[in-house]
Amino acid sequence: MKRILSGVQPSGRAHLGNYLGAIRQHIEMAEKFEAYLFIADLHALTTTKDPQLMREQTYDLAVSYLALGLNPEHTVFFKQSDLSEHAELCWIFDCIVKMPFLERAHAWKDAQAKGKKETSVGLFNYPILQAADILLYQPDLVPVGQDQKQHIEMTRDIAITFNNTFGETFKIPEPHIKKEVAVVPGTDGQKMSKSYGNTIEIFADEKELKKQVMGIVTSSVPLEDPKDPKSCNVFQLYKLLGTDKEVKDLEDKYLKGGFGYGDAKKTLLAKILDHFSQAQEKYQELYPKKDYVYGVIEEGNKKAKIMASKTLEEVKKKVGYK
Ligand code: ADP
Ligand code: TRP
Repeated sequence: MKRILSGVQPSGRAHLGNYLGAIRQHIEMAEKFEAYLFIADLHALTTTKDPQLMREQTYDLAVSYLALGLNPEHTVFFKQSDLSEHAELCWIFDCIVKMPFLERAHAWKDAQAKGKKETSVGLFNYPILQAADILLYQPDLVPVGQDQKQHIEMTRDIAITFNNTFGETFKIPEPHIKKEVAVVPGTDGQKMSKSYGNTIEIFADEKELKKQVMGIVTSSVPLEDPKDPKSCNVFQLYKLLGTDKEVKDLEDKYLKGGFGYGDAKKTLLAKILDHFSQAQEKYQELYPKKDYVYGVIEEGNKKAKIMASKTLEEVKKKVGYK
């Protein structure tokens, strides 16, 4: 059976981009593949320096995945910082990766371009830790959104370099990026991202959600005129959640005219509330069950450890530590 692996940083509440671009695939694919999924809290330290927030966001992400349908019987669901193997393998890769290779990374180049000269060593090293995360579990596929493509390509290069230097050790993984949801637009039309403040959060309460949906930027075409669905952010988001018939109906209303953006936003809001109503309920029910949620992660950590320590042992032999 093929194996998948992916990670998500606990860096804020899950939004529609995370869900459609990554979380939904993680949960669905776990029914067909052997699945490893983890909370990337080591990576999150590159941005979050508040320990209470780190704990809360980690817990929130775990509850969100479980509420959205992650089945712990079918997925090894674990927390990165509980397994020392990730940081250990990262160091070994640090010693075979050259500086110019990392200087090509988009995230690093963006930080430099924005004048953030004093970025941490951890941010510079971010792609190597991600390569360690992935290669420890020898997956076939890594399901992610488009923004992670470069990180997976770098992981493949690091695996090839290691294999060439020390002998065949790592399987070369493939990114798995679903075309229709590779880049989900945010409320301002740019890629939806916590760092742009343009998100629609799936577990926000109804009032907050309404504010986010009503804040979606639209054109100034008057209510009575026909509108172009393709260039409208509201329609683009609706398309990702509605059935074919629902999408066609909304498209017809846009093209006919007499249907304003306020109406379109109300239609989208109702769709989001309906789509996530079960998950919302589950989220409220699970949130107070701390023992259960931490128990799931404990179990996942144990299973992940078996795989991670096996790969690390092999690597230690290859480099001459054993
Ligand atoms: P953010 O950009 O909000 O910080 P993350 O980096 O935590 O999101 O992303 C977690 C996962 O969700 C990754 O696999 C990423 O590719 C995916 N993802 C994030 N935003 C989007 C988006 N707008 N469209 C598609 N996938 C996305
Ligand atoms: N960098 C990824 C993100 O921001 C999170 C991540 C860390 C990851 N390690 C990973 C994703 C390994 C896939 C595989 O979304």
